[in-house]
Amino acid sequence: MAVRRILQADEMAVHQKAKKVKDFGPSLKALVDDMVETMRAAPGIGLAAPQIGVPLRVIVVELPQVEGEEDPQRGKLFVICNPEVVKSWGEEEGDEGCLSLPGYVGEVKRASRVTVKGQDLKGKKIRVKAQGLLARALQHEIDHLHGMLFTTRLESIDKLRRLEKAEEEAELAI
Ligand code: CO
Repeated sequence: MAVRRILQADEMAVHQKAKKVKDFGPSLKALVDDMVETMRAAPGIGLAAPQIGVPLRVIVVELPQVEGEEDPQRGKLFVICNPEVVKSWGEEEGDEGCLSLPGYVGEVKRASRVTVKGQDLKGKKIRVKAQGLLARALQHEIDHLHGMLFTTRLESIDKLRRLEKAEEEAELAI
């Protein structure tokens, strides 16, 4: 396992469309191990393979546990290959940051609940139902697979602001 360099918004590779995962062999497992380690080291709550320069449809998301909060979506590692939003409900605007654009957050409208289908590391079909921050993180990561950063989804540049305190980033960096 290794912490990999996270590509930044001004690098072309982060804007390329990722390809479908077809080989569920050991190299995929090695890629995911690196992605998880890189996400945790950043720290961030999600990462897409193109962010470390690998143009494959793989995402990882892990929301930190909050003391006293019994949210089953938290403290669980989600690894999804070939993810796709198959259902979405509602809309909510919330702050969002990105590991490829450190120091900035923007208010982005996302569906408040989604069902995402995809495959696990072995290629088995999986389905994840998510709401709130997990739903936001999944939508953000799936955008990365289309080469899209959250800045593209801002209604106007006024919705983007510079973070003042570095510690604010952790919960928002996806
Ligand atoms: Co991001």
